[in-house]
Amino acid sequence: MIKKIGILTSGGDAPGMNSAIRGVAKTAINSGIEVFGIYDGYRGLVEDRMVQLHKEDVVGIQSRGGTILGTARLPEFKQPEVREKAVQILKARGIEALVVIGGDGSYTGALRLTELGINCIGIPGTIDNDIASTDYTLGFDTAMNTIAYCLDHLRDTSSSHHRCTVVEIMGNKCGDLTLFSGVGQGADILVTPDHFMTVDQIVDKLNSYRGQGRKQTTVLVAEKMKELNVVDLAEAISQRTKYEAKWEILGRIQRGGAPSAFDRLLGATLGCYACKLLMEGKGGICVGLHNNKLCYNDIPEALQMQRDPHPTIGGMIELLNN
Ligand code: F6P
Repeated sequence: MIKKIGILTSGGDAPGMNSAIRGVAKTAINSGIEVFGIYDGYRGLVEDRMVQLHKEDVVGIQSRGGTILGTARLPEFKQPEVREKAVQILKARGIEALVVIGGDGSYTGALRLTELGINCIGIPGTIDNDIASTDYTLGFDTAMNTIAYCLDHLRDTSSSHHRCTVVEIMGNKCGDLTLFSGVGQGADILVTPDHFMTVDQIVDKLNSYRGQGRKQTTVLVAEKMKELNVVDLAEAISQRTKYEAKWEILGRIQRGGAPSAFDRLLGATLGCYACKLLMEGKGGICVGLHNNKLCYNDIPEALQMQRDPHPTIGGMIELLNN
């Protein structure tokens, strides 16, 4: 039976991470296990910055955005000597296992630590929804709600001025936030790596919308597509259509804010589940939600799984957004 575990959040923060921290901490403490919160992801781990968490430290944190532990990206964690230092620190403190909340980069770190004798379990925490082994990552639902709020506001001003608003949505090369928001909010055009359109195609479509009398339009563009950026696209639209176009980059607003009810529930249950699996002696795995059931996969398998490009929803764009 393990006696001490650690928990850290790593990579971009995501709403729901605090709920997962609470889920892990409460489950551990209620099972007689000491739990240590490690500050600022793997960086805090290799700098030996951590604190024991008690029940009172996690009271009410499920409603707070961000992560109470802080987070960081630590590219140096790829170096074997840095990981070995982390293992020495954990062993010196008697911490036998770790829960890592973060994205795919954080999972790789968790796998390496498991190979070095510290059982680690990953919880998917990123607004991007780019982890194939789970239907939803923590923070994705909240980010979609934030995007809906922003798009409502942008549409008010855009329709008052009869403009086209071109909006860049986060996702780190994954188009889920753009696709789901575009379909849910009825954007006129959406462009993602899986549902790509050229500038010419976008201009043609907007001209046809204008011909049909559509006075205001919204175009959503997923970030980090080499072929298309919102600044050049807005310029092309202003020059080649009758719409005056304005661009907006929603940016990190999408990462903040109080977690949605769904993300709180997902965080609590994944946190509890991950801790229970650690208590069973499992490691090198990541938990998730698949077909409405909690599940887990080996991390290498999860990292190789192909993301669902959502062809059924994608196939609805022409019918819903035209
Ligand atoms: O992975 C989450 C995410 O918000 C991505 O959507 C985005 O590309 C990236 O992080 C931005 O990271 P940072 O805030 O470190 O620049």
